[in-house]
Amino acid sequence: MNAGESLKQKKSAVNTALDSILAGDGSVLSQAMRYAVLSGGKRFRPLLTLSAGESFGADQNTVLPFACAIELIHNYSLIHDDLPCLDNDDFRRGKPACHKAYGEDIALLAGDGLLTLAFELMAGSSLKGQAASVRGEVIIEVSRSAGVGGMIGGQMLDVTLTPEGISKEEFQSIIEKKTASLILASVKTGALLGQAPLSQMDAIYDYGKNIGLAFQTRDDILDSEEDDSGIGVSRPNSISVYGYEKTKERLERYIGLAIAALDKISLDTKELKFLAEMLLKVKKGKENAKNTG
Ligand code: IPE
Ligand code: IPE
Ligand code: MG
Repeated sequence: MNAGESLKQKKSAVNTALDSILAGDGSVLSQAMRYAVLSGGKRFRPLLTLSAGESFGADQNTVLPFACAIELIHNYSLIHDDLPCLDNDDFRRGKPACHKAYGEDIALLAGDGLLTLAFELMAGSSLKGQAASVRGEVIIEVSRSAGVGGMIGGQMLDVTLTPEGISKEEFQSIIEKKTASLILASVKTGALLGQAPLSQMDAIYDYGKNIGLAFQTRDDILDSEEDDSGIGVSRPNSISVYGYEKTKERLERYIGLAIAALDKISLDTKELKFLAEMLLKVKKGKENAKNTG
């Protein structure tokens, strides 16, 4: 099986697991949570977790609940990001945003529900042997990456810094925190559950960080190519800071650095390489590229 085919299988395993995790009680709140998560999405983060786990020899059943937990955190962040008080985006994955379908009050709570469910999943999953010993480390890693020092801190910078006055350093800090941080944690989670040796942690870090920076850079390119992004507020983005051509060069550089880091890991990292190379495809029309679920 080639990397594309095995990743397709992993994506399908993630979607099946999410469907079951979000079975819910049929209430409006659980419907809103299902709507937000099961409406598509590339599942990029859980694929990174599963692929990194596999490279380091972790069992897929061990990694899957953690991969899904990270995807729940990502989806909560998207619900909140689209709210009128943040990006005021009416559409997500080509469909009405959660607050457009369910109202702001329920969307806010659906996000809260997904975030807390993620931690219930990570804390409660059954882990055997050595993997059990790293559970705490993984939860700390994911918490920090999603919290004030990571994604939330990045979202805070995103809403407070304006495209006009922003420095390159401030902009790098935004993308590192709001997006690269959870993506790096996705890779580290797989590596930790696979008991990756400390000697390989630098390479894992370099791969995760660069693929995270590439991810937001690509997202900014896709946003800039969209005719009407629907975003009611103007946020700093790579194009406004570096210009279009330099942004494309940066994307290629990040991906080159991510792939170079994999070369230092003497294991089968074909899927991780495939996921990095996927980001080089910058199709016109954001929904085409994003709504692959
Ligand atoms: C969009 O994330 C928001 C960013 C952090 C750039 P994704 O591009 O991963 O969105 P889905 O989950 O595939 O829809
Ligand atoms: C979203 O970033 C980042 C998080 C939700 C943490 P963007 O605002 O750039 O992503 P899109 O364009 O809404 O998907
Ligand atoms: Mg947004």
